[in-house]
Order: sequence, then C-alpha cells, then structure tokens
Amino acid sequence: MSLQIIVGTQWGDEGKGRIVDWFASTSDVVARYNGGDNAGHSVTVGPKLFKLHLVPSGIIHPKPVAVLGNGMVINPKSLLDELDMLKNAGIDIGPQRLRISHAAHLITSGHQSLDKAQETARGKGNIGTTGRGIGPAYTDKATRRGLRVADMISPDFVENLGNHIDETNEQLSTLGAPLVNPLTVLNEFRLYREVMLPYIADTSLELYNAMNMGQRILAEGAQGTLLDIDHGTYPFVTSSSTVATGVFTGLGIGITAAQDAEVTGVCKAFQTRVGSGPFPTEVFDDLALRLRGTGANPWDEYGTTTGRARRVGWLDGVLLRYAVRINGLTELVITKLDILSGFEKLNLCVGYRQGDKTFSDLHFGPSNLEDYTPIYEEFPGWAEDLGAIRKWEDLPKAAKGYLDAIAKLAGVPVRMASVGPEREQMVENK
Ligand code: IMP
Repeated sequence: MSLQIIVGTQWGDEGKGRIVDWFASTSDVVARYNGGDNAGHSVTVGPKLFKLHLVPSGIIHPKPVAVLGNGMVINPKSLLDELDMLKNAGIDIGPQRLRISHAAHLITSGHQSLDKAQETARGKGNIGTTGRGIGPAYTDKATRRGLRVADMISPDFVENLGNHIDETNEQLSTLGAPLVNPLTVLNEFRLYREVMLPYIADTSLELYNAMNMGQRILAEGAQGTLLDIDHGTYPFVTSSSTVATGVFTGLGIGITAAQDAEVTGVCKAFQTRVGSGPFPTEVFDDLALRLRGTGANPWDEYGTTTGRARRVGWLDGVLLRYAVRINGLTELVITKLDILSGFEKLNLCVGYRQGDKTFSDLHFGPSNLEDYTPIYEEFPGWAEDLGAIRKWEDLPKAAKGYLDAIAKLAGVPVRMASVGPEREQMVENK
C-alpha cells in the first residue's frame, strides 16, 4: 500500500499532527493537501512542543520529504516564521526536504484584512474564522484572479501583486475597513520570493514519480470533515476540501491511487469545535471545564492558532458515522482517551431525535443539526490514569468497552488510541 490518508472526523483539532508524526517515520513523503495557516498541528517530542501551521508534521522526522500541495493557500510570512522555528530546532528544511507546489495559492496581508473586515460585517452571524485570510484567498482562486506560488517567478509578479492590492483595497473601502499599503506588501514579497524560489516544484509530478517508485505517501489533512466546504456544517465551514477525496485534487494525484489506500480517521474521544455553528452534543459549565481544561496545559482545549477556548461536548456517533461514509474510512485512531479518566459515566451520542422520529444516519448532511436532539447511550467511566499504558490489554475494562462501542457504531476498527501528549503515549490495538 503506497497511500495513507490522515483525515479529521470532527471539526478539526482531533490531534492529526501527532498521528501524522506517528506514521511519518515509515513514510517517504508527507504531503498536505488543503487549507493554510488556519491549521495548528501540535507534536510533542521529549521536552519540545512543535506547533506547525503549514509545514506537514512529518518534517520532524529525518527521512520524509514534506510537500505543500496545490490545494493549499500559503501565507509566506507564516511559512518563513515556521522555517526559522524548525531551523532553530535543528531540523533540516533544505529544498531537498521541503517542496512547495507551483500551483498553490498565496495569501497576502490584503486577504487577512479582508477576512477580518468581512467577519465584522457579518456581525452576530459571523463564522468565527481564524482571521488568516483563508476564505478571501480561496475566493480569489475560485474567481480566477488569485496569485499562485509560480507567479512569483514571473516578471509580471510585481504588477500582478499591485493589482491584487488595488482590488483588495476597493473591497476594504466598501466595508469601511483600513486599507493595505501596497508598498509594504510589495517589499515584503521581495523577501518572500527570494526565500521561497528554491522550494517551488511541480509536486504533482514528483508525487507521481515517487508513487511509481513504490514510495509510501502520507497525505495530511487539515481541519476536519465537518468543516469541509461541501460536506461540512455549511456555512460554518472553512473554504477548502478537508475530506479524503480532497487529496486527489489537492495534491494532483490520480484517483487510481485510491485503490489500495488506507484512510485513517482521527477522532477525539469527545467532541470539540472552535468558532460558530451547530453542535448537538455540546456541554457547558463544570462538565465543559472538565473536558476543556483550564488552559494551564498545552493540550487543554484552546486553539493552537487563535488561542480561543474550544466548545466541548460528548462524542457524536451520528457525525462519526457520517465521517466514515464521506471519507471511506478504513480505520479510526481515537485521541485524548486519557482526558476521560475520572468521569464516573460517559455519554456517547448514538442517534438523533427530531419530533417523534429517531435516526442514526444523517439525511441532507450536517447543515441543519440544530433541529436534532442527541440520543445518548451511557457507559461506565474509569478512574485510572492511562498515561503509562502501552498495551491494549492493559487498558481498563471500561475504556476498552467505550472504544469497542465507538468501533461498533462507526463500523470500522479502532487501530490505536492516544493516552497522553507525548509521541510514545499511544496504545495499538494489535
Ligand atoms: P477559516 O478556515 O479561518 O475561514 O475559519 C472557518 C471555520 O473553520 C471557523 O469556525 C474556524 O474556527 C474553523 N477552523 C479553521 N481552521 C481550523 C482548525 O485547524 N481547527 C479547528 N477549526 C478550524
């Protein structure tokens, strides 16, 4: 098998970064296919916590080549900051290790300003975006006036960038927002261009060659199934294809590569969401604080990118079954199982009720979730700290019972579960 896809089954923040890190040691290429620096992937290696927004988490391993695919939108400033951070940590980030698709789109400070101004204009109905310019950059892509990475090579780049800033400023002035200074942007991009040029590649061709040589490709998704532009809780979604099929357009890989692909869904042992939108199993007050944590630990439920407190709730099995279907998942990895230690009882949402009807599969997707009331099945909790457990059979009976119930509901096996933030705090179901 030469392709493994790692995809989030929820609203992002499932812990995909550390799962990618886990599989990266046996991969030749780790490639991101969607989104931009709205993502925040954390990996803890010994005393060091790596927070990555753009570069695939696989870069932390010495072997795999890291690819930023054409489906991404890249903010060069964030990229340069991240490259500096990795270099200072002693990680090789030379052009032979990091390849950036010529067809990925660029994010400018104009896009970021527009994102924030549009959110302000939405008022109470805002989406709660990360403010990173993701929506405006994908809008420019779809309306065919975006700036692509390869455009930086073109002699017309300065003129094109100038035109982009003029157009963005027109939109900003309509919204009554402060304008962007074109000269500042042009000067910044001179530097970005110089640093990025050696990394620009036809990554679709390179991936094709790698696959033909029998190399193992790990595709890293950002955000999660429920934030997908087509299949998520629209309009409270991000602007890219976060689901597994996004790999094929977002990396320029032919669909036949899917034939023997492994599609690994990463699912937190409970549910979280940052930003606005429906959340049927959301909990509040003391229970929410227990699931979220106070913010004292880096793994508490506060956004890696924005620092916002995440909304929390019980695991939603209806949405998980939907993620299995939409992504064609072959297996699950359950993260943060350790956080549930100490709960006397756990709730797992096994269906929804609407009026006198009940169902366990979504019809018409997840956009009208506010119409449904969750149906819970109660499970006994466990008191034990799971942090030191490394064998499936050593997990408390109640924890195994909870994981079995998730696998049964999802209809796919649970391959492993994480029991702490450290790289090796993982229990495989062998
Ligand atoms: P945008 O991607 O910044 O446009 O934000 C759109 C929605 O997706 C908002 O609700 C964000 O909070 C959410 N979002 C974007 N990226 C992430 C992520 O990496 N994790 C969790 N939520 C995200």
